[in-house]
Amino acid sequence: MQVLVWGVCLLLLGLTSASSRIRVPPHDQVARVARFVAHQCDWASMATISSHKPVVGQPFSNVFSMSDGPPGSGSGVPYMYLTRMEISVQDLEVNQQASLSMSLAQTDYCRQQGFDPQSPLCAHIILSGSVLEVNGTEAQFAKKALFSRHPEMVDWPSDHNWFFAKFNITQVWVLDYFGGVKTVSPDEYFQASVNDVHK
Ligand SMILES: *[C@@H]1O[C@H](CO)[C@@H](O)[C@H](O)[C@H]1NC(C)=O
Ligand SMILES: *[C@@H]1O[C@H](CO)[C@@H](O)[C@H](O)[C@H]1NC(C)=O
Repeated sequence: MQVLVWGVCLLLLGLTSASSRIRVPPHDQVARVARFVAHQCDWASMATISSHKPVVGQPFSNVFSMSDGPPGSGSGVPYMYLTRMEISVQDLEVNQQASLSMSLAQTDYCRQQGFDPQSPLCAHIILSGSVLEVNGTEAQFAKKALFSRHPEMVDWPSDHNWFFAKFNITQVWVLDYFGGVKTVSPDEYFQASVNDVHK
């Protein structure tokens, strides 16, 4: 009888995780958690240093579509499709330093688990670094990464002179589970195993 009950419990657990299709890496594998969040998110909040009155020199946070690779093939590098007509991109032309944040609150995961977005149980990451235009083969990868996950980008107005850019990471900050923020170097982040990461 007890064996049967356990069997049913395990079956239900299996169904739950299959339906949410998200399996966050263990808390102690911080770099893997960061790569996981970066791959799950389709957009990010990016803070620049404003170049616009009346907030020149102040932080300015804005929403950007991004992708680190097609589903299941995350590179860890957040790519964006930008135009110099955009207010935050104008900030980047003055100061390319920026910060990008992403959260599993942007997926169904935290809601399904009952985790508030500000709770450290709802894993979120902050990237420090700068935004750089990419060319050549990297731009081709950026195009594949972005257009596979944001199909309408193909039709964005060509007179806006869109270009591909990457977020060049200098530090990764991870808020996942209790105990305060954890940091990950770019090397640790890019070397993290992402074998179990599925979109
Ligand atoms: C990419 O090309 C643009 C314009 O041709 C140039 O301004 C930029 O510096 C190049 N970026 C890299 C990383 O080569
Ligand atoms: C890009 O990031 C690396 C660290 O990953 C850093 O050493 C390098 O200076 C950055 N490049 C620019 C142009 O900011």
